Amino acid sequence: MNIGDLDADRIPRHVACVMDGNGRWAQQRGLKRTDGHSAGEQALLDAVNGALEMGIEWLTVYAFSTENWRRPADEVRFLMRFNENLLIRRRDELNEKGVRIRFIGRRDWKVPKRLLRRMDESIALTADNRRLTLTIAFNYGGRAEIVDAVKALVEAGNKADAVDEALIEKHLYDPEMPEVDLWVRTSGEHRVSNFLIWQSAYAEMVFTDAHWPDFRREHLAAAVAEYQRRDRRFGGLSA
Ligand code: IPE
Ligand code: IPE
Ligand code: MG
Repeated sequence: MNIGDLDADRIPRHVACVMDGNGRWAQQRGLKRTDGHSAGEQALLDAVNGALEMGIEWLTVYAFSTENWRRPADEVRFLMRFNENLLIRRRDELNEKGVRIRFIGRRDWKVPKRLLRRMDESIALTADNRRLTLTIAFNYGGRAEIVDAVKALVEAGNKADAVDEALIEKHLYDPEMPEVDLWVRTSGEHRVSNFLIWQSAYAEMVFTDAHWPDFRREHLAAAVAEYQRRDRRFGGLSA
């Protein structure tokens, strides 16, 4: 699918992506699972470039879930270091392209301090960019996000009567994040795995068999093309 063939008037504003299948991609090639994570860097950069070309305003990618701590300690350690280095390697080039980097997830003691520092530096460096907001979901879980939002709004002194959807949204990790229009998962798995469950209530879901390290802007364009064929009704009837 070519980007030029898409309907430029119906580009999804917010695309969310579960970057899945790194381990299987590596195992199929007789490599270590962690080599699959490394190979995913190219896919991420290509997806970002594709999103810029298409005019997508918000791209949110799932990099580490609150459940991924269940993995072997070696793999978890690798992922912490890998994400830290990825930020160091890529933030300048993302900044030059007008990408604003943000993070959602729990900033707790389990996340290494040096990674948190790299995150904060990347946020500050790119804060004034507006072409594309790249949000990296790290130590992120959709249920944890809702729990944290409820805690925050209770701590702010809100009474039960005042609680509505808008108030909960105001206390999510990034209150400015718009609802997800297109939700993509790679590697043939058809499940949500706790990703953006609040924001994706009416997202169009597209699943692709490609493992994440093989994902390129053409796959993203194909997902957008599929999105453009859908009829979004939001509980109502077609226009
Ligand atoms: C996604 O790939 C990356 C992370 C979850 C960090 P996986 O590591 O889940 O790869 P598979 O699903 O085991 O193949
Ligand atoms: C979701 O993938 C998390 C990320 C891609 C970071 P997982 O591979 O962890 O999800 P499950 O275990 O298959 O549901
Ligand atoms: Mg997986």
